[in-house]
Amino acid sequence: MRTGCFVALAASAVLGLAAAARADVVTIGASQDNTIYSESGAQSNGAGDYFFAGTTRDGFHRRGLISFDVAGSVPPGSLITNVSLTLYLSRTRTGDQTVSLHRAVAAWGEGTSNAGGEEGGGALATTGDATWTHRLYPATPWSANGGDYAGTASGSTVVGNGTGFFAWSSSGMTADVQAWLDGPASNYGWLVRMPEGTTRVTKRFNSRTNPDATRRPALTITFIPVSPTGACCATDGSCSVVTDPGGSCGGTYQGAGTSCTPNLCPQPSGACCLPDASATCTELTAASCSAQGGTYQADFQACAVTDCPVVLEPFVDALPLPAVAQPTVGTPGGAASYTLAIREVAQQLHRDLPPTTVWGFGDGPTGATYPGPTLEVSSGEPVTVTWVNDLRELATGQLRTEHVLPVDTCMHGAIDASPRTVFHLHGGHVQSQYDGYPESTILPGQQAVYEYGNLQLPATLWYHDHALGITRLNVMMGLAGFYLLRDALEQGLGLPAGEYEIPLAIQDRSFDPDGSFEYPEMWHEHFFGNTVLVNGKVWPVLQVKRGKYRLRMLDGSNSRTYRLRLSNGASFQVIGMEGGLLPAPVTVSEVTLGPGERADVVVDFAPYAAGTEILLVNDAPAPFPGTPGVGVVPNVMKFVVTSATGHTAALPASLRPLETLDPLDAVVTRDFDLAKASEPCAGTRWTINGLAFDDITEFPELGTTEIWRFVNRSGVTHPMHMHLVMFQVLDRQAFEVVNGNVTPIGSPVPPPAHEAGWKDTVQVGPNEIVRVIARFERYTGRFPYHCHILEHEDHEMMRQFETVTACGDGVRGIPAEQCDDGNQVPDDGCSASCQIENECADGVDNDGDLRTDHPNDTGCSSATDFLETTPTRQCDNGLDDDGDGWVDVPDDPGCQTPTSTTENPHCQDGVDNDGDGAIDFDGGASRNGGVPLAQPDPQCGAAFVGSEAAASGGGCGLGPELLFLVPPLAALRRARRRSARVVLE
Ligand code: C2O
Ligand code: CU
Ligand code: CU
Repeated sequence: MRTGCFVALAASAVLGLAAAARADVVTIGASQDNTIYSESGAQSNGAGDYFFAGTTRDGFHRRGLISFDVAGSVPPGSLITNVSLTLYLSRTRTGDQTVSLHRAVAAWGEGTSNAGGEEGGGALATTGDATWTHRLYPATPWSANGGDYAGTASGSTVVGNGTGFFAWSSSGMTADVQAWLDGPASNYGWLVRMPEGTTRVTKRFNSRTNPDATRRPALTITFIPVSPTGACCATDGSCSVVTDPGGSCGGTYQGAGTSCTPNLCPQPSGACCLPDASATCTELTAASCSAQGGTYQADFQACAVTDCPVVLEPFVDALPLPAVAQPTVGTPGGAASYTLAIREVAQQLHRDLPPTTVWGFGDGPTGATYPGPTLEVSSGEPVTVTWVNDLRELATGQLRTEHVLPVDTCMHGAIDASPRTVFHLHGGHVQSQYDGYPESTILPGQQAVYEYGNLQLPATLWYHDHALGITRLNVMMGLAGFYLLRDALEQGLGLPAGEYEIPLAIQDRSFDPDGSFEYPEMWHEHFFGNTVLVNGKVWPVLQVKRGKYRLRMLDGSNSRTYRLRLSNGASFQVIGMEGGLLPAPVTVSEVTLGPGERADVVVDFAPYAAGTEILLVNDAPAPFPGTPGVGVVPNVMKFVVTSATGHTAALPASLRPLETLDPLDAVVTRDFDLAKASEPCAGTRWTINGLAFDDITEFPELGTTEIWRFVNRSGVTHPMHMHLVMFQVLDRQAFEVVNGNVTPIGSPVPPPAHEAGWKDTVQVGPNEIVRVIARFERYTGRFPYHCHILEHEDHEMMRQFETVTACGDGVRGIPAEQCDDGNQVPDDGCSASCQIENECADGVDNDGDLRTDHPNDTGCSSATDFLETTPTRQCDNGLDDDGDGWVDVPDDPGCQTPTSTTENPHCQDGVDNDGDGAIDFDGGASRNGGVPLAQPDPQCGAAFVGSEAAASGGGCGLGPELLFLVPPLAALRRARRRSARVVLE
């Protein structure tokens, strides 16, 4: 058995020992190596990438074992004149240490144990491994624990603190190798050890199975053959020296006198991928492949069976800025109607790529872009969008009947290859029928009109496809765009705007040489592309003026998480996340976004000289959190600073006051177990509580607050997203599974400041419990919640909750149609028939006056309903229309004017400041012009309890007839619960 000499040294040593003798040199790789661990008689690392010597922090010893097949590479009878062992040090704990080689005196084994990772602790030994107690585990022990080896070292060398190559060479080693050549049966190699007195001295060397072939152990042997010899060439191009006439040559004998120094054996060739956009493949030797900058695949591999990657040059295209969508009625930013059609177009995504077939959105009769045009909208200004599926085959113009990408019919809902689409506004607070329910399929040639009331805080929203079972394919094709919701308060903050406000849709893709997207035919757990596109260009460049830019960053990727920072290490400010502005800017040096998440950040380029180049870079492993460095695509985009001056105004110290949801308000805590399960069709699927999309088990009641706990029992982070609501992250806590039970460890940790605002998607890390709190309001119906890794969402990490109206009998958590029948209580506001109850209390604006219909008002479905039409909707939209930091009070006729004095922050803020369970009421006595006070107003306290208890439709507006009004105030809900409780007693 020959191990093969894989590198022959170039220089021949001329030793001059005997006039005719010619020295020869071979360099051979190890035939076995392993590590033994003193703390355990059963740890080993036979097949690992590394082996170890030294002593750990805890005083445990590691000893390496290594052997070489000398007799297979040097002709018998040769005189060994010199040997040199080279090891690559790849990790070290301390400075200079003497590492010595002792001749092993008993056979030992290398099994299949493989510790993975940094490998320091070893792995459970497999049959035939060497361990501290066994030379061949588990049957043959050493005669002494720790190995049988010669007491005197054959050679030693001082190994320093920097990674790199170290060499051992000595007369003792030469004698060992000579002995092994002459008596191969006693060749057990060397034991590699360090002085074992002190702790924390360990050295890690690359093993013979390390993936980097150039850094494996190598033994160079210089020898003088006795009889004529010649070189023997193996098919892999390696060279060994054999005795003439080459009878023992396993390959091609080169003739007497031929030598391995230098190696003249013909080198095999194989596929070599060149780093270019056309994925060029040529068959070359490994050496000429690397000389041309290519990546050598394998010996004898043909180009015909090689799939070379498309390699694109970064930072050659300008960052595209999506156009503002133009309405058919109205103007951008106001109440308006849009028609947005999805169309198949060819779009160039990189300078060196042919145009790619993508699906984009167009706001006109023809054409489309990927990403789609940006919808500019304002809080309280409703818009309607006519979504049209106008997907036609590029070549024929015929409506598409088949998807461009292969559809895997193992996915729930993916019954055939048709290009089903669904239109979802991510982060939108919308009626169920307009939410883009995954089964609200719109086929080519069909359309639907969706209404977006925009009754929510301003935020960076985005629209994207949501078709059941093929969302990942539709979004991959390009179906996504921005929806930017604003209001007067935000506009008044002086944030960078116009040319200084840039949306960045970050998505990863891989390409075929013809420019088409590469996406696997069968469902995979994740999709990770090898390039990053921003707004539809691969690694683009943006010229920036010296000043501040507001970057609205979206992770619109299928599976990839990004940990984003600036290449110069500069910090930047996060001003908002998915649900809009934070109370104040938060300074960070990196921000991590999972699929679906957004970060609204401000980067200041003022400090840099013209010409400065700064990259937006990523170091998040894929999958996430994964192993550092694995799967990372480091580049995102480049900024180039110009000499012009841009937006230099300071950022405001405070942004938008945040209403914090109170865990004490939660009526229920629900648990969601996130895990992977096996499944016969696709092999595996991802699940929530082990259930599927059609299993509905959550029925949140409108007006109530709930805590949802996501418990991640899997090894990857899941970005969990809820429709309808914005939530707040309460905390994160680690857990371990003890006897199958989730057992929390340590204390819950509140979210970092930049995550402590409104969100709609949250990263739930492995072995982590994340608690979020949300208030369910306004719209009844079914809404999805899911992991936003689209591969997970499609299979089958998406379920639905159904929001229901209050039941007069106080029963919670049941479907709306089961509510209240024949079980009314006198003043619950519900009538005897569910039909009528639903009409008025369904949270829907049945009469189209932009106000949610009032439940106990018999006239609520008519446009003349008093409660609905007076006051105007500005007062009860749950927003602070006059920008004084207080949510406008619904029954206050003056609330929409900036001079309103009726929004008393303490007595009419809808909060129970004195904690007596009733909403504070000041009887009108302490109205103070709307100036926010830091402390509760004592006048709302005990002295006024009488007024509070009596509050029933007076100035505070908390009487039963107002309980179902729109303002999303925790207090309204609390009051409602209180009244329900009173009724039941
Ligand atoms: Cu952005 Cu249900 O998704
Ligand atoms: Cu969504
Ligand atoms: Cu997931």
